[in-house]
Amino acid sequence: MAFAIKVNGTTHSVDVDGDTPLLWVLRDVLGMTGTKFGCGMALCGACTVHIDGVATRSCVTPIDSVGKSEITTIEAIGSTPAGARIQKAWLDLEVVQCGYCQSGQIMSASALIAGNPHPSDSDIDDAMSGNICRCGTYVRIREAIKHAAQSI
Ligand code: FES
Ligand code: FES
Repeated sequence: MAFAIKVNGTTHSVDVDGDTPLLWVLRDVLGMTGTKFGCGMALCGACTVHIDGVATRSCVTPIDSVGKSEITTIEAIGSTPAGARIQKAWLDLEVVQCGYCQSGQIMSASALIAGNPHPSDSDIDDAMSGNICRCGTYVRIREAIKHAAQSI
């Protein structure tokens, strides 16, 4: 079945089953491999994208639920004000270790400061608790979010 989805400002027509996860469409159909597969069960956050600005696990989001929503992925988050601040903070504080989880981390952090420019520690913990990092970069992630908030 054909679906017209809007990703990073461009409408794409994709021909897939309606229950196909958005993550599969992004990676396998559209070739946008910045969004990662981790668990496939909404448990790790590696697949996080924004749907109408809300951080969303694309591995459990069927394509037929997306409709006309605006999807933003890691490939374009740097063109949003919050995403640009977060990416700069990530570089300034050298957050990344292996990197596998980091696109999801950046998507969750960007959604956080877009809606809450000066988050408290508990705000950060609440927003980021679903994003797992096997390398344990959590301390640097929290500091980078605060660093990004200070730049506003
Ligand atoms: S791959 Fe989607 S939450 Fe883990
Ligand atoms: S940086 Fe390696 S899993 Fe997070």
